Amino acid sequence: MDSFIIEGPSTIEGEVRVSGSKNSSLPILFATVLTDEECIIEDVPDLSDIKTTYDLLSYCGKSCFFGFNRFEVRESKKIITEAPYDLVRKMRASVLIAGPMLSRFKHAKFSLPGGCAIGVRPIDIHLDGFKKLGAEVNLDSGYVILKAKKLKPAVINLRFQSVGATENLMMAASLIEGITIIKNAAKEPEISDLSSVLNKMGASVEGAGTELIRIKGVKKLSGFKHKVIPDRIEAGTFLILAAACAKKLAVKNAFAGHLGILIDKLKKSGAKIDISDESIMVSKAKKIKPVNIKTQVYPGYPTDLQAQWMAYMCLSSGRSIIEENIFENRFMHVGEFIRMGASISIKHNSAYVNGVNKLIGATVMASDLRAGAGLIIAAALANGSTKIRRIYHIDRGYEKIEQKLLSLGLKIKRVEE
Ligand code: UD1
Repeated sequence: MDSFIIEGPSTIEGEVRVSGSKNSSLPILFATVLTDEECIIEDVPDLSDIKTTYDLLSYCGKSCFFGFNRFEVRESKKIITEAPYDLVRKMRASVLIAGPMLSRFKHAKFSLPGGCAIGVRPIDIHLDGFKKLGAEVNLDSGYVILKAKKLKPAVINLRFQSVGATENLMMAASLIEGITIIKNAAKEPEISDLSSVLNKMGASVEGAGTELIRIKGVKKLSGFKHKVIPDRIEAGTFLILAAACAKKLAVKNAFAGHLGILIDKLKKSGAKIDISDESIMVSKAKKIKPVNIKTQVYPGYPTDLQAQWMAYMCLSSGRSIIEENIFENRFMHVGEFIRMGASISIKHNSAYVNGVNKLIGATVMASDLRAGAGLIIAAALANGSTKIRRIYHIDRGYEKIEQKLLSLGLKIKRVEE
């Protein structure tokens, strides 16, 4: 198992290019199951979650090629409509194969994803939606089995704006003739990216990016070529890191429009930000002012940038409150920041961060992907050496992270245990 060793405190400088979005790539890769034609997806980040998707699509019978950030999918043999435990366990987003499989083959069997470090994470909203579309849903030995003689379009009202459920149902509905309406849909930019793909394939999806999505499904969908949007969470992570310790950092291939609330918060905290067509330029705050955040569905503050914000606030000049409203157990990083000298207490779903004068390097552990990113920021700010263990979590979501950080002047080294 690899670890990172980071020497702090660091000042970073230069420019960094943000990779294509992981969370856009995953549903778009699963959308290839909707067709037997060739699909080409560009700017796909080279990450372990993409490798898991490659393995799952290959297991199901698709021929995949992935190299130089280009993912090609073709079909030359019969598709197996099953997603086994080993692959779903590695990546919860594997459940996104269910919608496309169900609508094309009227059958899907996939392992029920278990809980994870950030909570129970059920899939009831996905399953309720599939039932509305006419599927029979059964559970058997830890597997979900979806079956249907014929699927039908429906009006589906989601009880919560789940990103994954919105994507799964949009994909399923695209191959069901007639008009399906998703109410209380998630509005994240990744939903709009998927909708562009489904439209390229021949469906007619309107309203992505709003709470009401209308999908006119068709009998057959075609192949497509698509370049995924930049990863707004990777971009946001670099913006926070820069606000904490950059002389000047140009973050390239980032859409400021996807990062509105973060940019407002960073400005309030004292960071200097200049936005141009080419990049978002950030210089660190002279003194970090405490700024509260509340995680919310898009366009609210993203839960995937909560741990990184907390790392930044550890060195603020006062008290900030960080409220987590999306996942029930997403404060695993708090204990690790405390090991580095932070002063944080938790009450219900809020963390109260009292800024300290310095953090001190320590051995810490990444409990999930974004917690790992938060620890990189804390390590860059801390005095001395920090060892971050279990960085396989970080490798799930940040492409070439140490190369990017090294090029900016951060002293980071990957070591094998
Ligand atoms: C996606 C992102 C993840 C991000 C999350 C919230 C991908 C691959 N992952 O995850 O990085 O943190 O959105 O922005 O895009 N829920 C239910 N029942 C369901 C589905 C969800 O109760 O059927 C709950 C979850 O437990 C969680 C909340 O709803 O508490 C949000 O989940 P959801 O929006 O579905 O997140 P994901 O699609 O899993």
